[in-house]
Amino acid sequence: MLRSHNCGELRKTDIKKRVKLAGWVHSLRSFGKKAFIDLRDRHGITQAVLGEEFKAVYSELPRESVVLVEGAVVKRKQPNSAINTGEIEVIADKFIVLSKSKPLPLEIFNPDIKTTEEKRLEYRFLDLRRPEMQRAMEFRFGAETLIRQYMLLKDFVEIETPFMSRPTPEGARDFLVPSRSFKGKFWALPQSPQIYKQLLMVAGFDKYFQIVRCFRDEDLRADRQYEFTQIDIETSFSEESDIQELSEGLISLLYAQLLGIKLKRPFKQMSWEHAIDLYGSDKPDTRFGIELIELTDELRESGFKIIEKQIRADGIAKAILIPEELTRKETKAMEKIAKDYGFPGVAWTWIQKELKGGVAEQLEPIKTKLKKLGKGTLLILAGDWARVCEALGAMRLAAAEKLDLRKGLDVLWVTDFPLFKWSQEKQRLQSGHHPFTLPKPEKLSDLFENLSEQELLDIRSQAFDLVINGTEVGGGSMRITDKKLQERIFELLKIDRKTAKEKFGMLLKAFDYGVPPHGGIAFGFDRLLQVMLGKDSIRDVIAFPKNKVGRALMEDGPAKADQELLDELGIKTGD
Ligand code: AMO
Repeated sequence: MLRSHNCGELRKTDIKKRVKLAGWVHSLRSFGKKAFIDLRDRHGITQAVLGEEFKAVYSELPRESVVLVEGAVVKRKQPNSAINTGEIEVIADKFIVLSKSKPLPLEIFNPDIKTTEEKRLEYRFLDLRRPEMQRAMEFRFGAETLIRQYMLLKDFVEIETPFMSRPTPEGARDFLVPSRSFKGKFWALPQSPQIYKQLLMVAGFDKYFQIVRCFRDEDLRADRQYEFTQIDIETSFSEESDIQELSEGLISLLYAQLLGIKLKRPFKQMSWEHAIDLYGSDKPDTRFGIELIELTDELRESGFKIIEKQIRADGIAKAILIPEELTRKETKAMEKIAKDYGFPGVAWTWIQKELKGGVAEQLEPIKTKLKKLGKGTLLILAGDWARVCEALGAMRLAAAEKLDLRKGLDVLWVTDFPLFKWSQEKQRLQSGHHPFTLPKPEKLSDLFENLSEQELLDIRSQAFDLVINGTEVGGGSMRITDKKLQERIFELLKIDRKTAKEKFGMLLKAFDYGVPPHGGIAFGFDRLLQVMLGKDSIRDVIAFPKNKVGRALMEDGPAKADQELLDELGIKTGD
């Protein structure tokens, strides 16, 4: 080895030893005949002292150059308690520059100098030198190791599934890979290993897991990347509660081992309907109040005309009370949210000793009830239940952000999701989770014959999400194992027989050969790490992520392909 120790290792007990260290010049302080170098690697910083014999080298030495230091460990006259090696220093008798650095294009160590994320991503190899990023990567590896240990103890087998495959059914757009050998045909990168893991159940691997990359071509957000990692799990002969218990064990282990936090078990459970009704979200952040208040009965005949009209048209009225007097500008921001959800605006008033401002006058008839709610800004919406709840839910989060209420830790299961949701765009039913999700047993016997559209939308499924601090970190379900039911679900989703056979034929075929009851879950590993580390975006827990709009700034991707390759693939790009 070029080095005998790393830069975070030496202690008082090493005094008098001869050591060899190597690392980056974190800082260099030169005092004429002497220089002090903070030598850095992933493990820490050690001070090296260079005498005058090295002056020609150190006087020209830029920060972040890679050097080798050999010498004796001595007691430091002025110990530095800020670093682990602060009681010693190394007096160099050999000093070699291995690689000189150019001036850095971005500041990586001074937290006072803000660097844009774009620059950080362009020079990610430098950005990853920051201790914070190195800790995040170590944390990630620690979590991965613990997951594998836990799954091994629980008798699971990790099995890899293909990346080059047929389209999978998670509902996002596929990334395609053209085939050279079969011109005009494409592989799809998996959005998840969903079908494969179900086939593994048919194959008898009753406890499967995989830490696996998934690919989805969807618009990116702070918690979304084109490629992300799942902790993917599937089990046979199990029930919803078994999968939840296994998951709780896993998540609790990670929190305990990596953060020293003991989670309260069993985790809380909340039905999807309750989550929407009270928090306006299927991933409710329940760490603070500002719950949705039901006002339909109170406003039904209150004389508040626009709202009465909505209620008469089968709508509802709900409100949130933000415990602060929002300024006009802030209410405007809330109005903008309402508009984003298709409302013409939001009815608001301040509740002080009396109602004041906004629609105070219209609310006069119910002011006694409203005043009992407390003081602050009341925001009311009326209309379709789901839309009202979701818009108020978004305002609730915006208010909590502003009041800095999104603090603490809260873990819960959201259960009983609708089996279907209505796609306005496609004008048809879509799966709530994915098409293999088992409905609740009610109404199952007649395969949903003779149900109205609304009745179909009211069917609940055996699907569940794990939500931490208002982020969906995992989703799972029990699966359909009955071919007839599966075909009926495809039919309701308007996936015709031919398409179903083409896309999911292998699964339907497998159902003919002895399929065990099964179910599973997948956690978004990056999201879980983001939440655990309190980061703003999953980009901060991924070594080489795409930027906000999906570009790889360091590699400058995506890029044009070589014409020769395109010709071989039979692809014309049109430019
Ligand atoms: P689902 O689609 O809910 O379920 O995905 C599981 C979890 O993966 C994470 N996730 C993402 N993370 C980052 N970027 C993305 N683009 C992204 N999309 C999803 C979320 C989510 O909860 N096969 C099913 C699981 C199952 O039924 O077993 C599935 O993939 O945290």
